[in-house]
Amino acid sequence: QRVYVPLDSAAVALGADDVVDAILAEAHSRKVEIEIVRNGSRGMHWLEPFVEVEVDGKRLGFGPIEAADVSSMFDADFLNGGTHEKSVGFVDDHPFMADQQRLTFARCGQTDPLSFEDYIANGGVEGARKASGKSQEEIVTEIKTSGLRGRGGAGFPAGIKWDTVQGASGDQKYIVCNADEGDSGTFADRMIMEGDPLLLIEGMVIAGLGVGATKGYIYLRSEYPIAGRILNEAIEVAKANNLLGDDVLGSGKAFELSVFIGAGAYICGEETSLLESLEGKRGLVRAKPPLPALEGLFGKPTLVHNVLSLCAVPWILANGGDAYAQYGQGRSKGTLAFQFAGNIKQGGLFETAFGVKLGDLINKYGGGTRSGRAFKAVQIGGPLGAYLPEAMLELPMDYEVMAQNGAGVGHGGIVVFDDTADLMAQARYAFEFCAEESCGKCTPCRVGAVRGEEVIDKLAAGTNYDENMVLLEDLCELMVDGSLCAMGGMTPIPVTSALKHFPDDFAPRHVREAAE
Ligand code: NAI
Ligand code: SF4
Repeated sequence: QRVYVPLDSAAVALGADDVVDAILAEAHSRKVEIEIVRNGSRGMHWLEPFVEVEVDGKRLGFGPIEAADVSSMFDADFLNGGTHEKSVGFVDDHPFMADQQRLTFARCGQTDPLSFEDYIANGGVEGARKASGKSQEEIVTEIKTSGLRGRGGAGFPAGIKWDTVQGASGDQKYIVCNADEGDSGTFADRMIMEGDPLLLIEGMVIAGLGVGATKGYIYLRSEYPIAGRILNEAIEVAKANNLLGDDVLGSGKAFELSVFIGAGAYICGEETSLLESLEGKRGLVRAKPPLPALEGLFGKPTLVHNVLSLCAVPWILANGGDAYAQYGQGRSKGTLAFQFAGNIKQGGLFETAFGVKLGDLINKYGGGTRSGRAFKAVQIGGPLGAYLPEAMLELPMDYEVMAQNGAGVGHGGIVVFDDTADLMAQARYAFEFCAEESCGKCTPCRVGAVRGEEVIDKLAAGTNYDENMVLLEDLCELMVDGSLCAMGGMTPIPVTSALKHFPDDFAPRHVREAAE
């Protein structure tokens, strides 16, 4: 009998390893034969550590499990589907899972991440096999047809990027995967790398075949040690099965891949800074142009993509660009892995097509606030994303609709705040974050972030309030217009959105205290 316990960092942080030890010890003392499979997470983080068993071909789930629950689970005969107070029934029927459209995360949490047999049995390698029989132009055309856009946050059309790299001349081209997932409240890259690493490898292989690159690097943030271990093991599994190496699945084209551990700076997630770091230099932003697509790693044409962009590729090649474009709305095609964090009852990962309402994600699937207090704001798209009020929860998740409303979909992070949140403090935090993480290359960001903190402190104290409010608005405008990269350019977004939607929070401290 197989028992599934996630190896995912979130599950491990909540005691999954202790649960495994307890299950093995209990099985041993009861003389029951079991096999533990360390799978990825299903993304229902409020149920982690989430234990599963297979009964009549369907998976039953139990969670959140502590080591202390294990003995009673055996008493209840959980291995054969016996009910227990921590039972949540069949996993696929759980409302959180049943309403998802999992294209990228289809296998995550279900299969053994390092089993090639599991991977193939569940649709893996099909995309790479199809790609290996196509020309570079045909592969790029599938990506263009799919409408896939960069999932790291910018949403740039992937097909145009692939076309540029494919058409660029160079004796060596590279595929670089940006796995420096730095946005607060996001964890989708980590989850897929831990739960289905062969998918990322397959996506990079297909990208290599598509643009004519033979070498790839995964730039992984140092804070993800479990993902690093799994990826390195998965690379060996891929090599042993001809998914990496000299004859990638019979195409006769080589592709080699390695993992590079990042330097621990948020700005190294910006693509040019990442390339500097990968070259062994300090993570400083480069001016664009030249685009990395033309002059990237070591000055060679380089396709830089976020983990999730590359992980969408195998499905597209396996099922066709047209099939992918059936999901979503407008120019936002396909699915996105939304990540619920902050003050939300059911934190986790929810993959569905673009067009889903922001309010449905938070209330219907996320279960509303964790505190049970009234909702106040949601920040979408990372620490430099907009704060939106309740009135905007009707908006669909769509790149263009969000942009028209002063926000961005970003990397799919959704961080919820209840009515105890102070949006002026959050606006100050944006400047603080920028001051801490700025690479220092340009003045609007390096100096502007520090001045921003000071101006907000003066507003809070009520010092020259009107003049400082004008100063704050001027500063934000200057940072947007004058910063070299998105770090300084986007820092004003949380500030101006907080100011626009929550003006009462920007009253001087003594005025707010008097009103309470
Ligand atoms: P960008 O808009 O400058 O570029 C997006 C991508 O398209 C880049 O790879 C760029 O090289 C490429 N590109 C642009 N024009 C091109 C052309 N004509 N041909 C070929 N390729 C072209 O945006 P940037 O600065 O790369 O990313 C900013 C975004 O990063 C923000 O929107 C933010 O949401 C996101 N972000 C994500 C984080 C995460 O943890 N996932 C962390 C921080 C920021
Ligand atoms: Fe560096 Fe900030 Fe300028 Fe970006 S905006 S180049 S992070 S100083």
